Amino acid sequence: MDSPELTERFVRLASTDNLAIMAYYDKVIVPILLKYLEPESPLLDLGCGGGVLLTLLQRRGFKNLYGIDAASILLDRIPDKNIPVICDNYLNVRSHFQQGQFQAATVFNTLHHLETLEEFEAFFYNLHYIMKPGGLVFIKELRNGMFYRIYNGMIKSSVTQFLFPWFIGPRNFVQTHEEEMHSRFFDFFLPQLKKILRTKDRFSFVKRHTPLSFENLLVVRANPTP
Ligand SMILES: C[S@@+](CC[C@H](N)C(=O)[O-])C[C@H]1O[C@@H](n2cnc3c(N)ncnc32)[C@H](O)[C@@H]1O
Repeated sequence: MDSPELTERFVRLASTDNLAIMAYYDKVIVPILLKYLEPESPLLDLGCGGGVLLTLLQRRGFKNLYGIDAASILLDRIPDKNIPVICDNYLNVRSHFQQGQFQAATVFNTLHHLETLEEFEAFFYNLHYIMKPGGLVFIKELRNGMFYRIYNGMIKSSVTQFLFPWFIGPRNFVQTHEEEMHSRFFDFFLPQLKKILRTKDRFSFVKRHTPLSFENLLVVRANPTP
């Protein structure tokens, strides 16, 4: 799990970027989810952070929403205190939720925080347990493409640091840590993802979306327990 310092810096950055993140999720990401989901669907947001997605889904009429995140200072930022949220490592979902409880789960920009391949495997094993057979899991992560390399280059460049200190400064610390996690994710976890999803036929691949071309949003279906 993340160090308290990283979480604290992430919180500060999230508050300055909040409007842009909300707009991106609202205009680009939520419409994709709405193609697949009904507002009645019980949905768990794993690594829900400050609840941007939960808040936007609630505005679209979703009533059966849950969140789990390891960082209480992020959970405290969720405006509606009636959304049930749990502060814990999401590797422990089995101890908080029932078997087959969720029709939908969202896993947005958080898988790269896992530290080992064993954790990565355990994540999907436990997630499958709480999913309804036929339920959908939405996995969103950055793509290791041109946009990502340009962004990293910009953050590290001494020219942009000099010209735009207010923009680059707060991003430097967070991105240095995130870059390490992203590299581990791209190099060691991503190549195993299909194999892990297919283990014991737990999940089937449904579709890959590439919102604004800098992220992958995978849709996978939970199969009945064999
Ligand atoms: C980059 S943020 C993404 C937040 C949110 N999903 C979004 O899309 O804006 C990653 C989140 O994952 C959470 N996280 C990381 N590892 C976790 C773990 N093992 N268990 C629960 N939450 C975790 C962090 O606390 C943080 O809120």
